[in-house]
Amino acid sequence: MPTATEQTTWTDLVERVQEAGLLHASASVLHWDQETKMPPEGIEPRGAQLAVLARLAHEQFTSDEVGELLAACESNADLTGDPESDEAVTLKRIRRDYDRNTCLPSSLVAEEAKLASQAQHNWAEARRNQDFTQFQPWLEQVVELLRRKAECFGWAEGGEPWDALAEGYEPGCTAAWVDSVFSPLRDRLQNLLQRLMGSETPPSNAFNELVLPTDQQEAFVRDIAASIGFDFQRGRLDVSTHPFCTGFHPRDVRITTRFHEDNVNDALGSTMHECGHGIYEQGLRQDQAGLPLGEAVSLGIHESQSRLWENQVGRSVQFWEWCLPKLRTHFGDAVGSLNLETIYGGANIVRPDFIRVEADEATYNMHIMIRFELERALLLGDLAVADLPQAWNEKYKEYLGIDVPNDAKGCLQDIHWSMVSMGYFPTYTLGNLYSAQFFDAAKREIPDLESGFAKGAFEPLKEWLNEKIHRQGRRYLPADLCEVVTGAPLSADHLVNYLEEKLGAIYGL
Ligand code: CO
Repeated sequence: MPTATEQTTWTDLVERVQEAGLLHASASVLHWDQETKMPPEGIEPRGAQLAVLARLAHEQFTSDEVGELLAACESNADLTGDPESDEAVTLKRIRRDYDRNTCLPSSLVAEEAKLASQAQHNWAEARRNQDFTQFQPWLEQVVELLRRKAECFGWAEGGEPWDALAEGYEPGCTAAWVDSVFSPLRDRLQNLLQRLMGSETPPSNAFNELVLPTDQQEAFVRDIAASIGFDFQRGRLDVSTHPFCTGFHPRDVRITTRFHEDNVNDALGSTMHECGHGIYEQGLRQDQAGLPLGEAVSLGIHESQSRLWENQVGRSVQFWEWCLPKLRTHFGDAVGSLNLETIYGGANIVRPDFIRVEADEATYNMHIMIRFELERALLLGDLAVADLPQAWNEKYKEYLGIDVPNDAKGCLQDIHWSMVSMGYFPTYTLGNLYSAQFFDAAKREIPDLESGFAKGAFEPLKEWLNEKIHRQGRRYLPADLCEVVTGAPLSADHLVNYLEEKLGAIYGL
């Protein structure tokens, strides 16, 4: 039995950490409002509101008091004796977060915030003018600052600066490991793309050419969101320019989507994607809210949940068997002439193009691998910032067979680097790889999983994900979670097998 003092120390620590979490959640409410409801003139005061909450949350979490409480709990065998206990795991994760949050000098944090706002402004300007040279001096400063930041965090023996930055998004992830997973993926995808592009019987694009009223699209995607398991008693769906998901608590999760008259597939794909993120947030343990066991494990695993619902479910033929009557109910004669084959084929069109965020399932990962290879080389000093556009364009030619027409459609298209962020991009592809591997495991364990989709039975999959992934919180590192859930380390085979099988059939290979 812990003594009364030991018990108080633990309770105090949990309270301090949860309070920091409440400040973060409050900031998330303001951020959600900024993206969905706030009038344009609100941007400046909102920036000040968010800055003060971020500072308070940081001070709360990194205070000496938390450090002392943490150390006291760590030396208490009642809490740490069983390394698998909730308490021991919680302490381990809090220690990791505490060390990572306290090792940066505040001067560097301030410098980064200032550079991010300037670099973003100049990036937007350069992109508008399709001129990389305007952004070049800012990106040089970004790379230089990120190298210093990586030095502060440090990396394991044999590692490199990229690892230290990626740790912030995907704990335990290193460039060497990513490279070992991505290399076979690149080779097999390149081969698949060549074969798909050579197909003499590509699917019809008619589904993507429909023009449908956005109010009908909204009623349709709300219907789908509720059907696949997003709980509207504990969540909301709103509209924003860039769809996103934010969870304040498992009982209040916000997702957004967007509508274009001529692209119902984008609205549906975006909604199912954000539903996947939202179902994860709604599935987190309520008794651990604001603590590591009530938090998502990483960006890559989060993305695996969104991609799984968007792609493995939402682009499957069984899903469309179930969804086609719904499409007809919501849109009537406008979709009357389209049959299952046309819609399923249209939802799975593959087309190499320049823009990552518009890419299909097969080409998307090429965009990510290019960015990963380039940012890794920039941080190592193997690639000079001045040479980035040329290196970028060469890789697009090599991997996707396309000629980039200008920097706006090339190396200036993404905001990430201007936000002083590197190490983030691979989490998208890791998400795709994890989703395919998780889905294969789910198919093994849930009888008639896919044929169930044709009857609208999505609950078994949601419950399986709740149990295997959501309720685990941050108990395991992402790569370990994959092994626990699927029985094997992450491999590109699951995703490529899935794409070869599905797209091969659609494209008549
Ligand atoms: Co996502």
